[in-house]
Amino acid sequence: MVVLLLLVHHICATKDEQEHVCPPSSCGKITNISYPFRLKGDPEECSVKMYELGCENNVTVLYLYSAKYHVQSINYKNYTVRVVDPALQHHNLSSLPLRFLSRSNFSDTYTDTTGPFQAGLNAFYNGESLSFEHIVFVNCNHSVGEKGKYVEIGEWVKWEGKGYAYAIVGDLRAEDLEVGCEVKLVAPTSLSTFDNNSYTAMHTALSYGFEIS
Ligand SMILES: *[C@@H]1O[C@H](CO)[C@@H](O)[C@H](O)[C@H]1NC(C)=O
Ligand SMILES: *[C@@H]1O[C@H](CO)[C@@H](O)[C@H](O)[C@H]1NC(C)=O
Ligand SMILES: *[C@@H]1O[C@H](CO)[C@@H](O)[C@H](O)[C@H]1NC(C)=O
Ligand SMILES: *[C@@H]1O[C@H](CO)[C@@H](O)[C@H](O)[C@H]1NC(C)=O
Ligand SMILES: *[C@@H]1O[C@H](CO)[C@@H](O)[C@H](O)[C@H]1NC(C)=O
Ligand SMILES: *[C@@H]1O[C@H](CO)[C@@H](O)[C@H](O)[C@H]1NC(C)=O
Ligand SMILES: *[C@@H]1O[C@H](CO)[C@@H](O)[C@H](O)[C@H]1NC(C)=O
Repeated sequence: MVVLLLLVHHICATKDEQEHVCPPSSCGKITNISYPFRLKGDPEECSVKMYELGCENNVTVLYLYSAKYHVQSINYKNYTVRVVDPALQHHNLSSLPLRFLSRSNFSDTYTDTTGPFQAGLNAFYNGESLSFEHIVFVNCNHSVGEKGKYVEIGEWVKWEGKGYAYAIVGDLRAEDLEVGCEVKLVAPTSLSTFDNNSYTAMHTALSYGFEIS
């Protein structure tokens, strides 16, 4: 009994201690950085290294597969963090994500669920599944017109200066890829309803960012 009481006391003390050394951190518009995250410079006992966020020029940064993403919001209730590729500029339709990223980059696509972040493909591990839509950028050596899902974006995007540039919402099935077209970039968004015939809407969706768990 005495041992148990001592143990309970010890656990309480440790918890108090942790709350004491780990008040929420703040960087830019993200004012509530707390467990499971920690901000670079916070004591190591606040969280684990893989959930350490950076603060660069007053912007909270998440490191994902050696790439950097800007944190837009952290939601502690549904265990999600929304991030955006740092190269995307709102209202600049020529700005594109730096990195190729799709659902298949995340561990939960397969049976391995040990990665630090998941894209919610496996609802079993995530409770509810995340909204994760792909925007696919292709470049063609001929004009395919506004065929099916293809939306012309040549006015804003030029790949190595030649070809016809298009963007497509959703997953590209093999039969949708026209002969002479090449996939240049795939990037995700978690905005679930937008006009899939408008590149402006697609770009707004990309700039909104994507949620991971
Ligand atoms: C950092 O961002 C916050 C929130 O956007 C702002 O209130 C603050 O003035 C910024 N600080 C600097 C040094 O830019
Ligand atoms: C910050 O997050 C913690 C942990 O989820 C929560 O208890 C607290 O209410 C939040 N504070 C604010 C100001 O949102
Ligand atoms: C828009 O983005 C493109 C590509 O990143 C860049 O070259 C251009 O300078 C940007 N325009 C403005 C007005 O920032
Ligand atoms: C995602 O996977 C693709 C293909 O393996 C790779 O080219 C890309 O760099 C990965 N993205 C990130 C952000 O690591
Ligand atoms: C998590 O909460 C945020 C803020 O309420 C919301 O925008 C987002 O859609 C939620 N995500 C999931 C997967 O429920
Ligand atoms: C575009 O959106 C409409 C209306 O939501 C939907 O019916 C259609 O299947 C979508 N098309 C593509 C290519 O996703
Ligand atoms: C486009 O590329 C495809 C496959 O490489 C080739 O068969 C076709 O002739 C090319 N079309 C033009 C207009 O160059």
